[in-house]
Amino acid sequence: MKKNILEAPFVKEMCDATANMYRLGWDERNGGNISYLLEEEEVGRYLDLNKVIRTIPTGFDASALIGKIFIVTGTGKYFKNVEKDPECNLGIVRIANDGTTAELLWGWSDGGKFTSEFPAHMMSHISRLSVDPDHRIVMHSHPTYTIAMNAVCPIDEKDFTHRLWQSNTEAVVVFPDGVGVLPCMVCGTNEIGIATAEKMKSFRLVVWTNHGIYGTGKNMDEAFGLIETVEKTAQIYMLALGHTVNVIPDQIIKELAALWNLTPLEGILE
Ligand code: 13P
Ligand code: ZN
Repeated sequence: MKKNILEAPFVKEMCDATANMYRLGWDERNGGNISYLLEEEEVGRYLDLNKVIRTIPTGFDASALIGKIFIVTGTGKYFKNVEKDPECNLGIVRIANDGTTAELLWGWSDGGKFTSEFPAHMMSHISRLSVDPDHRIVMHSHPTYTIAMNAVCPIDEKDFTHRLWQSNTEAVVVFPDGVGVLPCMVCGTNEIGIATAEKMKSFRLVVWTNHGIYGTGKNMDEAFGLIETVEKTAQIYMLALGHTVNVIPDQIIKELAALWNLTPLEGILE
């Protein structure tokens, strides 16, 4: 007897995350998407893993993820609606043996499919897993102040990271590894996926210029907390912009990192 999937912790986590992101004003309309790598054993308690509802071509090679199962937000789905109807707005897919097909095991009950940013998500999972076997989450969002700050700063990830670290003492502690920045690109493509995944080999956070941000982590809290801290810091930066008198000195940023036994990304601090 299988358990009720609507009560699965991972479905609840997707509902909570999307609801929080919507209410924070980060994800208008269908903005944002999340993918979460699940344990086969855990999914097997809720679903018959031999029952494939339909297959969906991915349009890229995800061979490194063959057999891996993800719960993913659907394309065009509104974050504000996920909690009300998880089965329509979310899907659980397994990457098939050909590496280019996703097998739908549950969800998208209206015939929908995974987010248009599926390439960026899957390619980012591959990158993050290569440096952290405990990695699980890729989260994409459109937080307002992060986008605004990116619009007034040069496209230079070390400079962007420095400005964040200088604006909030929490910043270097939460993301000592910094924030990657990509130039403005066409979203929803394999190309932006490849570029994002390249950054994800060294960053857990990647800004898409004039679009939004990606955060990753071992769990939902880590990915969410990273984006939340960047957004809070970007809000401070934007509110102070043009009036700033005090920024956090590099020496203090270094001491904050040392206090928490963290190594700040090189080439930023004096
Ligand atoms: P989807 O609705 O396809 O997930 O797209 C939203 C988005 O944020 C595109 O970058
Ligand atoms: Zn987006």
